[in-house]
Amino acid sequence: MAEPAKAIHGTLIHSSTPTQLKVLPDTLVILSPSGTILSLQPNTNRLRVAAVLAEQGFERLPLTTLSPGQFFIPGFVDAHNHAPQWMQRGLGQGMHILDWLDGITFPNEAKFADASHAESVYGKLVRGMLRQGVTTASYYGSLHGEATRVLASACLRGGQRALIGKCNMDRNSPSFYREASAGESIAATQSCIRHIRAIDPEGSLVRPVLTPRFAISCTAQLLRSLGEMARQDPSLAIQTHFNEAAQEIDATLSLFPEFRNEADLYSSFGLLTPRTILAHCTIMTPYEIGKLRDLGCGVAHCPTANMTVGGGFMAAPVKEFLRRDINVGLGTDSGGGYSSSMLNAMRHALVTSYARDALYPGFAARDEGERRAEGSGGEALSLEEAFYMATRGGAKVVGFDGQIGHFAVGMEFDALLVDMRDERNGVNVPLDEDGDSAQRMLEKFVMTGDDRNIALVYVKGKLVYGDGL
Ligand code: GUN
Ligand code: FE
Repeated sequence: MAEPAKAIHGTLIHSSTPTQLKVLPDTLVILSPSGTILSLQPNTNRLRVAAVLAEQGFERLPLTTLSPGQFFIPGFVDAHNHAPQWMQRGLGQGMHILDWLDGITFPNEAKFADASHAESVYGKLVRGMLRQGVTTASYYGSLHGEATRVLASACLRGGQRALIGKCNMDRNSPSFYREASAGESIAATQSCIRHIRAIDPEGSLVRPVLTPRFAISCTAQLLRSLGEMARQDPSLAIQTHFNEAAQEIDATLSLFPEFRNEADLYSSFGLLTPRTILAHCTIMTPYEIGKLRDLGCGVAHCPTANMTVGGGFMAAPVKEFLRRDINVGLGTDSGGGYSSSMLNAMRHALVTSYARDALYPGFAARDEGERRAEGSGGEALSLEEAFYMATRGGAKVVGFDGQIGHFAVGMEFDALLVDMRDERNGVNVPLDEDGDSAQRMLEKFVMTGDDRNIALVYVKGKLVYGDGL
């Protein structure tokens, strides 16, 4: 075994499959200096830990021991987040998407032309997201190259894992917030990619992602150039908004009358790949679901925004995505989503799925048959599935699978220490008199907890939030 750096002993909980949680009780975890899990030994009696470490010659290893009521889960992956919207969360609830972009969002994002504004907001964003347990985020920046480079540096400095994309937008927004040409947009994108690869050559924490905001804000020439960049560099991820709302779909198809749906549109530009993260995917035809599956695209399900901003109350066909083995992660879509908490995203994923289950069909689908996804009931998600999407599913969608999302030897230790004891910061989570099982504590955390229950946050084995036990 490589020379270890520290050890942890306690209960770990993670998803073993999309529908199953696995509790690893009394587990001794040994981490390498770079945060890789070197060994994982469940059922190591608390009183035997020192002896087990000594047997392996590691008696002097720093050891963190959890108490009853505390456990580790994998860090949350926010598969869709708008960094410059950190300060506008909560504004414009109930507005339709294009009105909300014009009225609230574009004037706010335009302020990021000032790099010192970006420095100030992005520092707060990274700290705020880590505090809520978001160890990985897929960020849309503003359209500004400089501000987006600031964002990448802020993530690396703060220790947050992230995909970082400068928004591409060369049409259909006010002149104060629009790029002058496709060429200018591509040049700024390339300079962001160079910066991100210079500050983190291995892509160990921050990686670039191509970010055509959506087809409404991109000329065909810009979409084509981005597709070409993606083709030439298979390590580049891609993200965009996809079938978010009726208003947006109508506008998109009237700008591109040669296409009958967004799946054909984006794929014709080479933008639908196994590295693509599609946010929303609410109004989906069976044809489009099949196409996303065949092309291996990932979905960032954003239930909070889908219910509150953008297009009325939309419940995406998430169960159908899962049934079809499409990779699904959860996004806060903050600030379209008013909350940047993945706990809220999980709860909203559950609640909207119950609504879809109860009201389906004819709900969140248009009247005409073409747009209505085929459904057969069974639309409700389980808590296990919501947790999977927030952790292991999200890791797959953002291209960090095999590195994070669950606990195993060789994986990197991105983890949250959840503390459900009553005394923790005055949070009164009712544990039963005789103590809850680990699984029940996790359920209570997901449904009733908040960031006060997240005591420590680790990314790649490094403590990035909290000050020890
Ligand atoms: N579509 C294009 N831009 C945005 C955005 O910022 N938020 C949401 N929810 N949808 C979008
Ligand atoms: Fe969004």
